[in-house]
Amino acid sequence: MSAVDIRRYLRPDFADLEEYTPVKPLDVLAAEIGVPVDQLVKLDANENLYGPIPEIRDAVSNADLHIYPDPGHEALRIAIADYCGVRPEQVVAGSGADDLIDILIRVTMPEAVVNLPPTFGMYGFLAKISRARVIDVPRKPDFALDLPGIAAAVEQGAGIVFATSPNNPTGNPLSLDEVHALCELDAIIAVDEAYIEFGGETAIPLIAAHSNLVVLRTFSKWAGLAGLRVGYSISAAALADTLMAVKQPYNVNVAGDVAARAALEHRAQIFETVQCIVAERDRLSKLLGEIGWLRPLPSAANFLLCEVIGRPAADVAAALRKQGVLVRYYDRAELRNYIRISAGRPEDTDRLMAALANV
Ligand SMILES: Cc1ncc(COP(=O)(O)O)c(C=O)c1O
Repeated sequence: MSAVDIRRYLRPDFADLEEYTPVKPLDVLAAEIGVPVDQLVKLDANENLYGPIPEIRDAVSNADLHIYPDPGHEALRIAIADYCGVRPEQVVAGSGADDLIDILIRVTMPEAVVNLPPTFGMYGFLAKISRARVIDVPRKPDFALDLPGIAAAVEQGAGIVFATSPNNPTGNPLSLDEVHALCELDAIIAVDEAYIEFGGETAIPLIAAHSNLVVLRTFSKWAGLAGLRVGYSISAAALADTLMAVKQPYNVNVAGDVAARAALEHRAQIFETVQCIVAERDRLSKLLGEIGWLRPLPSAANFLLCEVIGRPAADVAAALRKQGVLVRYYDRAELRNYIRISAGRPEDTDRLMAALANV
């Protein structure tokens, strides 16, 4: 057959699918902006700019890359369980927390999911891929949850609520009272703790009393392993069993598996850089507040959402980008006056502040 319109074979609802816009690789960005890669100040994706510790690099270089990974990722489940204070049967690992979001949607196939914007974009994106309706329950002006609104959305048939703590991009954590109130609803409550190592209180202790609670975590942020893609979920064993059954067998590759275990083994060392990042976030917040036209919001994560006052936020992001400093701007109504800036090393803050002085 020739010249057939391929769309006749594709899902019609994909015709207007809004693609998830991930950040671009460093070399592509550097080429676009016209600066060398090592001159980029990458404060747009909440990565750990200290990078992985040498012990992780050693573990990866000694790994048996020619052998398939363990589909049950048994050693990794044991190490994560020890870190989180749960049993290995409660842990499921995947190719980033993103993978767990997808698996969770696929095991429940809910008619709808509850999304709490402004928040991380993957919940809505992956729900649509699985043909689940996305019910947006916008956060209040201070970005706190609208609990009655969420309850009403669950009554409309939503099977999963995605609640992020601390939330990306607003930085505010959930209180355990809020998580507890969510768990009383008749739905799976997915609390995404991608940034919990930087602040906020974990909901893991509530799992014992709430079989509908699942906590999502990642090695991408605190451990500096975003490129290796390792995330995990903690839940009641009954839910974890089903997630294990549905996941792709080799969803954690050998390099990611050994790297994540090395990160846990040497976590005390990594937490020193986590502490540096937290301190840097607080220094950055103070410096940004002194500029006068930026208002950084309080944050428990490794980034700051800043309101831009009296000038377009898009222009600020573009002017920084021209100087090789990357921050995140969202072309969305509720965030149009904001930029999100990741906390990096002291020298990253200094470069950012110098670039802001030229804006
Ligand atoms: C709230 C939140 N959850 C999950 C992720 C993705 O984590 P991973 O890299 O493990 O897929 C991110 C990444 O930005 C995030 O902000």
